[in-house]
Amino acid sequence: MKSIRIAPFTDAALTEEIIALKKKKHAVILAHYYQTPDIQDIADYVGDSLGLSQQAAKTDADIIVFAGVHFMAETAKILNPTKKVVLPDLAASCSLAEGCLPDDFAGFLTLYPNHKVISYVNCSAEIKAMSDVICTSANAEKIVNSFPKNQPLIFAPDKNLGDYINQKTGRNMVLWDGACMVHEAFSIEKILSLQKQHPDAKFIAHPESEKHVLSVASYVGSTTEMINYAVADPTQKFIVATEAGILHKMQQMVPDKILIPAPANEDNHCACAECAFMKMNSLEKLYLCLRDESPEITVSDEIIKRALLPLQRMLEISK
Ligand code: 13P
Ligand code: SF4
Repeated sequence: MKSIRIAPFTDAALTEEIIALKKKKHAVILAHYYQTPDIQDIADYVGDSLGLSQQAAKTDADIIVFAGVHFMAETAKILNPTKKVVLPDLAASCSLAEGCLPDDFAGFLTLYPNHKVISYVNCSAEIKAMSDVICTSANAEKIVNSFPKNQPLIFAPDKNLGDYINQKTGRNMVLWDGACMVHEAFSIEKILSLQKQHPDAKFIAHPESEKHVLSVASYVGSTTEMINYAVADPTQKFIVATEAGILHKMQQMVPDKILIPAPANEDNHCACAECAFMKMNSLEKLYLCLRDESPEITVSDEIIKRALLPLQRMLEISK
């Protein structure tokens, strides 16, 4: 993705400007692990979707600069309707959110009366407003288990995460047919051959990956959980199946361990796995959005009212 270059600023100067502006405007920068290293290094908090929602829920900053994708910034806005939430690039979307449109989802729900609706946080505010509770990859199992065993459930929009949680919980949730284009691009053949080359490595994967990939993983977890696992496990070498941005923080946490990004299919735009949406943000765009307090995330009062409850339920169950 081509980044904007602001004429007189070097990256170091940009960083200084961002820090000064952040202080002056009483702003906080929340970043996902999939952001570029320069953005992660300047953020006040770097985390997974659950950690970011928890931070957004408790911040006292006046402005939230969300270095992530649109649904994440929208979630922060729903949790903070009176605060200004800005996103460096409004076009930073997500294949899961784009693949689950409100009218289609409303029609889908009519097919399953008596079902409660659990939506993965990777969806629009409108989808959240149609849900009973939200989950992330870190708490999906806990959220599902919070319903009685005989309660019919719909899980949307990630069929891979939903299928994984069905297996773990022994449920038979109805799944919306959506997927993350980044995690679906991992090549099982290349992973198996990499495992042969590195028999001393453990393969760890994010649950947005496909079933055949997850079936050969030693550990499956959210991005934060994958980092925690790499820290706690005595293994010295890991093959890591999630977006490549995670390697920055993971390597900082395990400086002496070897991290190998899991390979993607030939037709993926990069040999490893990069989310083109996450990578739309840049340090320059971050600076501009903090300076101009734009582009700003807006959500209607009506949607905020309906989407807040399922998000609050998630935060309550996750405590
Ligand atoms: P987590 O942040 O829950 O690990 O999910 C990863 C992801 O794909 C976010 O878009
Ligand atoms: Fe969406 Fe996948 Fe990108 Fe995460 S990595 S923002 S799930 S497309």
